[in-house]
Amino acid sequence: MDIAIETKGLTKIFGRIIAVDRLDLKVEVGTVHGFLGPNGAGKTTTIKLILGLLKPDSGSINVLGFNGGGQRIDVRSRIGYMPELPKLPNFLKGRELLEIYSEIYGLSGMDKVNEVKRLLELVGLRDRANDLIGHYSKGMQQRLGLAQALIGDPDLVILDEPSLGLDPIGMVEIREIIKKIASEGRTVFLSSHLLNEVQQVCSHATVINKGMKIIEGSISNLLEKLSKPNEVIIELEKVTPEIIKAIRDLSFVEKVNWIGNKAEIFCSKKGDFRADISRAIINAGGIITGMRVEERSLEELFIELIKKRD
Ligand SMILES: Nc1ncnc2c1ncn2[C@@H]1O[C@H](COP(=O)(O)OP(=O)(O)OP(=O)(O)O)[C@@H](O)[C@H]1O
Ligand SMILES: [Mg+2]
Repeated sequence: MDIAIETKGLTKIFGRIIAVDRLDLKVEVGTVHGFLGPNGAGKTTTIKLILGLLKPDSGSINVLGFNGGGQRIDVRSRIGYMPELPKLPNFLKGRELLEIYSEIYGLSGMDKVNEVKRLLELVGLRDRANDLIGHYSKGMQQRLGLAQALIGDPDLVILDEPSLGLDPIGMVEIREIIKKIASEGRTVFLSSHLLNEVQQVCSHATVINKGMKIIEGSISNLLEKLSKPNEVIIELEKVTPEIIKAIRDLSFVEKVNWIGNKAEIFCSKKGDFRADISRAIINAGGIITGMRVEERSLEELFIELIKKRD
């Protein structure tokens, strides 16, 4: 197992704020690794430390097998980076921007032309390559930012909130491009505050809050850890003490919240317990006027997890 990024005890302090707090991060080569956390969790700061744009207060960083990470120029040249909300020069055309960056990476002549063409096609901007960046939509600018990050054939691509501010279609487009980047064998490390986004594009994820790691693992593993049994909502014609007792006595029932004739039943196991619940209610002489299963979204579970560790 080769490691693309490894930090140990990584810490960055800004005055009174501990932006990154003893962070142990491990990103395997060839994975798409999501770096998940709410606003202010320390994602951008961690990325800047990895890139060598900031110096840590303590801890170690190893990137692509070298200590010190992006502080070494030979390591930095193997990393593609798209900053959070990339600010691209409005007065250039999309093609010009990619040509200039290609030249910085030492490409010229047909090599440069071909590389720019390949990237424009990859991000779906071939037809708009000769328009000014200032005339691009946000989604197009973001896609150009992705193309920019891919110049120089990087082994590791770091994307800071690649779909920030995009509509659902724009987000899908970015996701498709990320999948293509990964299929070329590059390691992708991307930050996001959206669990749903990470879930759809990443194979692994690390969740942080207040600079500290909360949980990490493969997506399937995380979903398993995060997933909780369902909640059943019932509505009755009339509530009696017998019914309340009958529901409470069910072995899988963990907690019940009664609100008038309605109840939220929290189950301690996974499964569909509607039949068992209705049987218990009917046996206790009740009449059910409504019943539905409330599945908690992963987004909600993510928020719950973060609150719990606060
Ligand atoms: N240059 C700086 N000077 C002072 N404080 C900073 C600096 N950069 C970041 N911080 C603080 O460090 C903490 C982490 O910020 P960071 O930008 O890394 O979070 P983030 O996870 O990227 O958040 P977001 O999702 O909003 O982009 C915040 O409290 C922020 O205010
Ligand atoms: Mg950020």
